[in-house]
Amino acid sequence: MTDQQPDEAPLVAQAADPEDRAVEAALRPKNLDDFVGQKRVRRQLSLVLEASRLRGRSADHVLLSGPPGLGKTTLAMIIAAEMNAPLRISSGPAIQHAGDLAAILSSLTDGEVLFLDEIHRMSRPAEEMLYMAMEDFRVDIIVGKGPGATAIPLELPPFTLVGATTRAGLLPGPLRDRFGFTGHLEFYSTDELELVLRRSAMLMDMSVNSAAFAEIAGRSRGTPRIANRLLRRVRDWALVHGSEQIDARAASAALDMYEVDARGLDRLDRSVLTALITKFNGGPVGLSTLAIAVGEEPETVETVAEPYLVREGMLGRTPRGRIATAAAWKHLGLAMPPTVAAAMPEDLFSVTPDGFDGSGSGVDSWSRPEG
Ligand SMILES: Nc1ncnc2c1ncn2[C@@H]1O[C@H](COP(=O)(O)OP(=O)(O)OP(=O)(O)O)[C@@H](O)[C@H]1O
Ligand SMILES: [Mg+2]
Repeated sequence: MTDQQPDEAPLVAQAADPEDRAVEAALRPKNLDDFVGQKRVRRQLSLVLEASRLRGRSADHVLLSGPPGLGKTTLAMIIAAEMNAPLRISSGPAIQHAGDLAAILSSLTDGEVLFLDEIHRMSRPAEEMLYMAMEDFRVDIIVGKGPGATAIPLELPPFTLVGATTRAGLLPGPLRDRFGFTGHLEFYSTDELELVLRRSAMLMDMSVNSAAFAEIAGRSRGTPRIANRLLRRVRDWALVHGSEQIDARAASAALDMYEVDARGLDRLDRSVLTALITKFNGGPVGLSTLAIAVGEEPETVETVAEPYLVREGMLGRTPRGRIATAAAWKHLGLAMPPTVAAAMPEDLFSVTPDGFDGSGSGVDSWSRPEG
């Protein structure tokens, strides 16, 4: 089957693989000034933190949303560091029962920062306990069962909750409303990724020239985690090839070898586009047919390849199936026949790529033709 083992995850996957987890701590910027990009979020957050310092109180609760690998965990750690406060880390999936949350909350110290990753995956009863804790710094601990159960109120010290989610749209309104500040992280520009790479290369003691940074940044899909991962692969390549100074030629040779192309597409992405164009004349073609043509499960094509292809405007999802856009033909070095161009739906680009737009629905509501 196509169940992906962690060590076979695509090089351009957004989610962390075990190697990322092992090395990321060392590459994380430790304060807001070192955090690259996300200007708006950074400015707003620094205001929130500054105000709370001036008032001498713990900062408002902060919600961070956005796709994997853009810096949510990094920012949570920065918040604690900037507030000079201890940090407690847990996650939605780890909190199965209200009691799990009660245990964490009741052991918090004054001003502590509680980071709840994947907060949209918390259980319902825990979520309800969290509402009260966030608002009134108080929880009711239920003792006993049935009619004899009693609620023992417990005061909590003031704390700052930092929640992170890749699916803000899945958060219930009452929870979202209890955050004083919500920061939505956006994909990074190539220039910003170059800065991320420069910093990482320095920490990794690598010698890389500007053109090589640009080369790697361009293939990193707007995502610092992917940029850092590609940088490590380039380092491996350079080590084996005895290149001490890494230039653009070395960077592109290395990444070509790993089959990550100039736009950050990998082999699966390219084979989806190639099949769509060469076998179906650009579509429209149903997802399951397309998946058979590339020898993958429909789910793999839909969840692994499509989001980025849609985001890059190379693939469109229409009510009649998937289509390759002019950008896809161009990327593969092919000329789009005029008849195909004329048949392209006009409203294709009014559609947002789904999954990460915060609404949790996006294109799916109108364009999943095969159910
Ligand atoms: N703005 C940034 N500047 C520099 N490095 C960054 C930045 N954002 C992220 N990184 C790097 O990318 C890596 C991944 O970031 P992080 O773990 O914070 O992402 P995340 O949003 O929490 O992802 P996930 O949703 O998978 O938990 C970090 O180790 C860090 O080195
Ligand atoms: Mg994280």
